[in-house]
Amino acid sequence: MKIGIIGAGAMGSGIAQVAAMAGHEVRLFDTHSDAKTKALQSISTSVNKFLEKGQISPSESVAIVGRIYLCEQLQSLSDADFIIEAIVENLDIKKELFASIEKIVSTSCILATNTSSLSITSIASALVNPERCIGIHFFNPPVLMRLVEVIPAIQTGHHVLNEVVELISQWGKTVVVAKDTPGFIVNKVARPFYSEAIRIYEEGIADFETIDAAMTTHGFKMGPFTLMDFIGHDVNYKVTESVWKSFFYDSKYRPSFTQLRLMEAGYFGKKSGRGFYQYPKVENVGNNRDQMLMETIFLRIFAMLVNEAADTVWLQICSEKDVDLAVKLGLNYPKGLLEWGKEYGYESIISILDELHNQYGEERYRVCRYLKKIASI
Ligand code: NAI
Repeated sequence: MKIGIIGAGAMGSGIAQVAAMAGHEVRLFDTHSDAKTKALQSISTSVNKFLEKGQISPSESVAIVGRIYLCEQLQSLSDADFIIEAIVENLDIKKELFASIEKIVSTSCILATNTSSLSITSIASALVNPERCIGIHFFNPPVLMRLVEVIPAIQTGHHVLNEVVELISQWGKTVVVAKDTPGFIVNKVARPFYSEAIRIYEEGIADFETIDAAMTTHGFKMGPFTLMDFIGHDVNYKVTESVWKSFFYDSKYRPSFTQLRLMEAGYFGKKSGRGFYQYPKVENVGNNRDQMLMETIFLRIFAMLVNEAADTVWLQICSEKDVDLAVKLGLNYPKGLLEWGKEYGYESIISILDELHNQYGEERYRVCRYLKKIASI
C-alpha cells in the first residue's frame, strides 16, 4: 500500500517515518522545498537513533529512508492508496487541498486529516465522495507517541473506519475512536488540568510551584504550569480558546486572562525563555510546603478531570476504556481518570464538585450526569 503525506512539518515528517518503518512506500509533499529537505534530515536522524539502540538493522535503516520519496508536485501522489494531510491548521486551506487531491487520486483512496481542532465533517464536506474522509490524529512526536485518535466524520463509511483502525494498529499504534467533537478526546479531557490550575493561582490560593508540586506528588510527570510553559502559551491558549468557542462558549472551557496576557507579551514559555517561569528554570526544592493545601489543590483539579472524562463518555465521544487509554498514552497520566476516580470513590469526587459548586455558584463545577450514574452502580 502506498501512503501519501501532505505537509512535511513536525507532524507530517513523523507520520511519514512511522509509515515507512511499517514497510510502506511513502510519497511526501510540501509546498516548501525547505520543509521537505528538513523532514528527510530529521527522519534520518531519528532512524539512526533506532539503529544505535539496536532496534533496527543497518540494512533496515537504509531501506526505511529509501522508501520515502520527496515529491515536487501534488500530482505525484496520484497512485497513493491512502493519504494523510498534515498541513497548516486552517479550515479553508484544508478544504481546498482535499477538493484538489480528490481529483487526482483513485476513487478508493482514503483521505485523512491530522487536524487537532477542526471539524472532520466540515473538511469531508469539500469532497464529492465524503465517505472516504476521516480524521487520524497523531500526537507529537508521532514516532514515539503510541496513541492515535481516529475520528470518523458523520459522512465516513464504516468500511473506511474499519480499514483505518486496522492499518494504524498495524503501524504499532494504539487506536482510540472518537466522535467528531471539539478537541476529540485528549484535548477535551485535559482542559481542567490547565484551567483549574490557573483558577487556583488567580484566586491567590497558591503559587505556580506549589500547584505544580501538588500534581507531580500524585504521579503527573509535569505540573500544569511547567507543562503549559513546555507546550507554549501560543499553542495552549489557542487550543483552549478553540475548544471553548467550539463548545458554543460553555463557560467551563473559558480561557483565562492570565494566559492571554502571557501570549500577548510573547512570553510563550520555555521556547521564548519566559512563561509562568523564567528559563533556565531555577528548581525550588520546597520541602516546607503545606501538605494539606497541596492535597486540596490536587483533589480540586483531579475531581474536575474525572468529571470531564465522565462527560466525554456521557456525550458518547468515546468508550470508558478509551478515555482511560487516551489519557495514559496521549497525556502520560499515571492512571486512567475513570479507573483512578473509581479507586478514590466517585461519591467523594461528587462531594468535592458539589462543594465547589456551592461555594462558587458557577456552571463549571456542575457534576456530569454520567458521574452520578457510575457512582450509583
Ligand atoms: P508545521 O507548521 O510543522 O508543518 C506544516 C507544513 O505544511 C509546513 O511544512 C508547510 O510548508 C506545509 N504546508 C502548508 N500549507 C500547505 C499546502 N497547502 N500544501 C502542502 N503543504 C503545505 O505544522 P505541524 O505542527 O506539523 O501541524 C500540522 C497539522 O497537524 C496541523 O493541522 C496541526 O493542527 C496538526 N497537529 C499538530 C500537532 C503538534 O503537536 N504540532 C499534534 C497533532 C496534530
